[in-house]
Amino acid sequence: MAAALDGQRVIGLDRHSAWGGLDTEMIQGDLLDDGWLTRTVGQVAPSVVVHCAAMVDVDACERQPALAEAYNVGMTRTLARAVSPGALFVYIATDGIFDGRAPYRTEADVPRPLTAYGRSKLCGEHEVRTACGNHLIVRTNFYGWSSGRKKTSAEWLYGALDRGEPITGFTDFYFTPIYVVDFVNRLRRLMASSHRGTFHLCGSERVSKHQFAMRLAEVAGLPTASLRAGSIEDAQLAAPRPRDMSLSSRRFTALTDLEVPDCLSGLRRFVPDRIRPLSERFVDARG
Ligand SMILES: NC(=O)c1ccc[n+]([C@@H]2O[C@H](COP(=O)([O-])OP(=O)(O)OC[C@H]3O[C@@H](n4cnc5c(N)ncnc54)[C@H](OP(=O)(O)O)[C@@H]3O)[C@@H](O)[C@H]2O)c1
Repeated sequence: MAAALDGQRVIGLDRHSAWGGLDTEMIQGDLLDDGWLTRTVGQVAPSVVVHCAAMVDVDACERQPALAEAYNVGMTRTLARAVSPGALFVYIATDGIFDGRAPYRTEADVPRPLTAYGRSKLCGEHEVRTACGNHLIVRTNFYGWSSGRKKTSAEWLYGALDRGEPITGFTDFYFTPIYVVDFVNRLRRLMASSHRGTFHLCGSERVSKHQFAMRLAEVAGLPTASLRAGSIEDAQLAAPRPRDMSLSSRRFTALTDLEVPDCLSGLRRFVPDRIRPLSERFVDARG
């Protein structure tokens, strides 16, 4: 929403009344309430819907798969069916639908999710494809600063490094992270193009969680003495983790002619944005 506030009307549907100190038009409600969601979307009649709401805690989804399904499948189905035919439906999808046995997965690779979260988000993709001809399903893995209401994982990592708290960076768990501003910037260009369908949109570089933490520390000038290298095998997590969640954004790059950033260049934009208000972090995305 912060990126899209450039003259067009943007309405947020959220269970909170405000978002990140932005002067935004919000309609407050629970997206799990099918009747409310269908009525509200019918009244607003949006030409574009960007569906970001989900149950995102991978371990909570594993413990409560029926709830994960209600959020990530049921809610998506209701929303996708509520929009007018022809409206553009954008679904923020996940890299967590692959089994993690090979790097740089493409859109042609067959998903095989290991977790309840991954399965539910993959079923969400199916709901979007079935209900909306005009859709973008964009699989990603992003990081950023929060809007202020709750902490993101990158924020947590930055804080732990800053305070010198002991933390473990996994050396055997890979991903292709992209700074959320870089992601949104490119997503908006994709939305404005004639390209539709399923896309991978991530950073260009596959890094381990440990490498990511080391690079964040390097860019932010934070000490790394408290950062220990470890294995995800030793973490007590409810959900199994695919070891390699990296995605190839080659299709996106080939069709749009837009490069995706490497890890360090994204972090160099992320770190200074820490002290900028949300409304200013997306200035580039509006350009
Ligand atoms: N972070 C990533 O790297 C990543 C990777 C791939 C895909 N995604 C997708 O990107 C989207 C955003 O994820 P995120 O990581 O940014 O997590 P997030 O901040 O927790 O975003 C999810 C949002 O959905 C809202 N929501 C959930 N249930 C709702 C309901 N019943 N009614 C109204 N609002 C509801 C949450 O509100 P509350 O804060 O009140 O819970 C939260 O604002 C999700 O669809 C996720 O699957 C994220």
